[in-house]
Amino acid sequence: MPPPPLPLSAESVDVLETYLEEVGTVFRIFREQDSGCVSYGVAVGDERWFVKGATVPEAAASLRRAVEVHAAVQHPLIVPLQHSFDVTGGLALVYPWVDGEVLYHPTISRHGGRAASDSPMARFRRLPVTVILRALEQILDAHLAVEAAGLIAVDFYDGCLLYDFDCDRLVLCDLDEYRPGPFILEVDRLPGSRRFMAPEEFIRGSTIDIRTTVFVLGRALRLLLDAGDDEQEWRGSPPQLKVIERANASDPADRFASVEALVQAWRGASSVRT
Ligand SMILES: Nc1ncnc2c1ncn2[C@@H]1O[C@H](COP(=O)(O)OP(=O)(O)OP(=O)(O)O)[C@@H](O)[C@H]1O
Ligand SMILES: [Mg+2]
Repeated sequence: MPPPPLPLSAESVDVLETYLEEVGTVFRIFREQDSGCVSYGVAVGDERWFVKGATVPEAAASLRRAVEVHAAVQHPLIVPLQHSFDVTGGLALVYPWVDGEVLYHPTISRHGGRAASDSPMARFRRLPVTVILRALEQILDAHLAVEAAGLIAVDFYDGCLLYDFDCDRLVLCDLDEYRPGPFILEVDRLPGSRRFMAPEEFIRGSTIDIRTTVFVLGRALRLLLDAGDDEQEWRGSPPQLKVIERANASDPADRFASVEALVQAWRGASSVRT
């Protein structure tokens, strides 16, 4: 991917939307996000970009974290940050546009719907097990890089999984809340989807460390390798389920001590024929 074209290499702009309309063609707007960010698909020449902007303090803080995350970790599966610039009251980030759909897309006015048969999640769950296993392996591999960078996964959920059903290509987006760890939780809870979050993410004063990431990844394995949304239709093997149970132990001390250990166990269980 070449660097962004000059028009998107601004240092500072006043109103993001007005600016993007001046320099290119805005073909998509994500206004209704829980994060408080507003994002744009913008075409400049024959290239397309995803520009995520924040003008409220909490959202801007999240985008500042994202800059740190991308400085710390690069991986073929993680959509790379190309550029960031100031907007009045906040910040904007420029990424290459990636075709596909996130497996779950909550908005301010609408949450839920993963079980609906035409939802991206339900479509994903109907893919052949081998295709799902490859996607899971990619998610794990990206998190080996996250672990090596000293980062903890925060707010990882199916809304970070951008999947192109036409060519079975997965990428990870919106890792904005990932942060260096371990750290002590100084608020009542971390941001995130309850379905993926570890118990300690809801306890002020708890330690959030790589075992928290192990838990979140265990939830991803459990939820994505199931034919339904209620965790009743497991498509994997009993040894794989055992690995997940350990990753999802409520006491962090009972989990794998690292993403590396989880991945080794998962690969071992996945090579066993039952
Ligand atoms: N690089 C990209 N290319 C194309 N579309 C993208 C890209 N990154 C994200 N998207 C799409 O834009 C949507 C919003 O992006 P993102 O999840 O980063 O925003 P957000 O404001 O953090 O939303 P949320 O509050 O749901 O976390 C995603 O759900 C996804 O559909
Ligand atoms: Mg987000």
